[in-house]
Amino acid sequence: MVARIQTVAFQGIDVLPVDVQVQIAAGMPAFTLVGLPDKAVGESRERVRAALGAIGLALPPKRIVVNLAPADLPKEGSHYDLPIALGLLAAMGVLPSDAMDDYVALGELALDGAVGMVAGVLPAAIAANAMDKGLICPAVAGGEAAWAGGGNVLAAPDLLALINHFKGSQVLPSPQPLAAEDSQETAPDLRDIKGQESAKRALEVAAAGGHNLLMVGPPGAGKSMLAQRLPGLLPPLDPAEILEVSMIASLAGQLPDGKLTRRRPFRNPHHSASMAALIGGGLRAKPGEVSLAHLGVLFLDELPEFSRQVLDSLRQPLETGRAVVARANAHVSYPARVQLVAAMNPCRCGYLADPAQACSRAPKCGADYQSKLSGPLLDRMDLHIEVPAVEAADLALPPPREGSAAVASRVAAAREIQRQRYAGQSLGGAPVRSNAEADGELLEAVVALDAPGRTLLTQAADNLRLTARGYHRVLRVARTLADLEAAAGVKRTHIAEALSYRRPNQLRQG
Ligand SMILES: Nc1ncnc2c1ncn2[C@@H]1O[C@H](COP(=O)(O)OP(=O)(O)OP(=O)(O)O)[C@@H](O)[C@H]1O
Ligand SMILES: [Mg+2]
Repeated sequence: MVARIQTVAFQGIDVLPVDVQVQIAAGMPAFTLVGLPDKAVGESRERVRAALGAIGLALPPKRIVVNLAPADLPKEGSHYDLPIALGLLAAMGVLPSDAMDDYVALGELALDGAVGMVAGVLPAAIAANAMDKGLICPAVAGGEAAWAGGGNVLAAPDLLALINHFKGSQVLPSPQPLAAEDSQETAPDLRDIKGQESAKRALEVAAAGGHNLLMVGPPGAGKSMLAQRLPGLLPPLDPAEILEVSMIASLAGQLPDGKLTRRRPFRNPHHSASMAALIGGGLRAKPGEVSLAHLGVLFLDELPEFSRQVLDSLRQPLETGRAVVARANAHVSYPARVQLVAAMNPCRCGYLADPAQACSRAPKCGADYQSKLSGPLLDRMDLHIEVPAVEAADLALPPPREGSAAVASRVAAAREIQRQRYAGQSLGGAPVRSNAEADGELLEAVVALDAPGRTLLTQAADNLRLTARGYHRVLRVARTLADLEAAAGVKRTHIAEALSYRRPNQLRQG
């Protein structure tokens, strides 16, 4: 007899059904696992054997074959332990063979039979829901699985609890969706920053429209400080966005205790990050930083210190909103719609603009340092600002009256206008949510640019040698500036301010 139970394999954020088939036949005692298991899956035999032993069950001295179908799909990860054990239990007659027909199972087994946390419970729960099945998952992931809304979730602390549940002697309670409490209050406040008014304005515009931002300035000017205050200005995720963001976090194994959060992701990878860490991939395909920052902020501090290859690999996700990882046998892709915020010094010593402090190699060292950034990457920056050193007089001032809360409410109003404007619009399959994501005809339609603005933009595009991408980025920023004023159409003043944020052809050399 062959016992069957459903589980899943992950390919990018796609969830593929996998059928676990267990056969116990007469023959030499053996326990074979087939169906392209990787090392972790292969080792599950030992964990399953020990876990069954821990609840007093020995494997029958027969020929046991476990097949993971489809046989040509590589299986990665430790979440096959639980379905294999359940399939064995059914094949051994411990559980009724049809008990698990209506479930998809995933979980790792400890040697004592406890069911441990695995990555990807949320996407698996959503997929199970779509297949009209329930989900069997680790108890710690119950809160996460309940978000899928299917209702039928068995969050088991150990194998014995599951057996008891199916035998009817002890019913497992349904888990409730868990949300992490919002700790927005503990986020740093904009009020801590003295002076830097124009940088704060740019930060507000970036937050309002989801635009990419590059800050250049001497050491200690407050660039990292400014970037860290951006999450406090952004509106919380809406329910659909929470699911999107959490699916990726779940796949990366980054949902602590299975709690989902409304906070927008803010990722700041160190500049020693490799391409696999930033874009995704590696031995076992995992989402990278750019995907973990999906619908949030990717902050690259000390931008030129990142390796050139790593930075250039960001170009494609920034443009398309997806990170594609090429693997030996498949391309997997993860959503990666991020707002890129970057900070850098103008040169290695950092004081290029200040003749009193600049090193003897200025201005050559500035050109060398900045040449590490490619033109196409800089072209993707909507807002390019200089953050000068803070004056001592500014530092002595009392804290500014306006803090993050006031700015965040203006940002929220501007975002609400955008949400209504783009409701139902989508580009390349992804919904458009902010001005930064509008493109092509949609962008032209929504800017409603007046004639003087059009003239200014055309002239400036010639004079500043704007690329086509640059031209559209100016339009998007101008649209955001108009939204911050709740203006219906984009006017000349908006275009003028948006142009002031464009990168000069050469970064200023002091
Ligand atoms: N505008 C400011 N108002 C108040 N404090 C500031 C300001 N700018 C900088 N500081 C102080 O200087 C410290 C360093 O700031 P920050 O790390 O943001 O500088 P940075 O511009 O990122 O420098 P670097 O280029 O060296 O990374 C802050 O922790 C803060 O104490
Ligand atoms: Mg810094």
